[in-house]
Amino acid sequence: MTGGRTFRGLVLIGFMGSGKTSAGREISRRMGAEFLDLDDRIEHHAGMRVREIFATRGEAAFREMEREAIREAVSVAGRVIATGGGAFQNEENRRLLKRYAPVVFLEVTPGEVASRLSEDRTRPLLPGRGIMEEREIVNMMDTRRPAYEQADLTVRTDGCTVSQVADQVLERIGCGPAPNSVLQGPEGEGTPG
Ligand code: S3P
Repeated sequence: MTGGRTFRGLVLIGFMGSGKTSAGREISRRMGAEFLDLDDRIEHHAGMRVREIFATRGEAAFREMEREAIREAVSVAGRVIATGGGAFQNEENRRLLKRYAPVVFLEVTPGEVASRLSEDRTRPLLPGRGIMEEREIVNMMDTRRPAYEQADLTVRTDGCTVSQVADQVLERIGCGPAPNSVLQGPEGEGTPG
């Protein structure tokens, strides 16, 4: 049972490492909605990894593929769409995504990003470089924040599990557990009676 509103899709935005893909997958599973990860779609279409697209075709070509993937993503209603960290910087993307469904900004601190992605080598804009990395993250986040803040809602994710992020997002969009629903444990404890 969910509280109040009918689930009509969702868009997750936020910096690299904010957990958009994991939370998006979890939310789509709970809501029985289709999950679409934009980077996966782009890789599928291009036949190569994001890192290779940046290396061989450049960022501008990647951004064009990203715009195209968004136009395609919003053509079917009710999806949970996880965006790449730079997607919401583009005005057309913002307009399409905001019109599609509630947009939730998964906020994360630079320190948390640095620790979550310290071993990650898949993100071309953040090739793990130890101590320098956190300052670069701070700068990039500051540049991007005005766009992220155009989301409909913000959810803080530091120190949260994927499940806790999903709980918060669903609650904020009015699709969390109904306030008077009884949570049933594995043995049926909590059953009224
Ligand atoms: C990017 C974030 C990446 C991916 C690409 C560019 C960015 O997605 O789209 O490497 O500009 O922040 P994630 O946010 O899923 O890492």
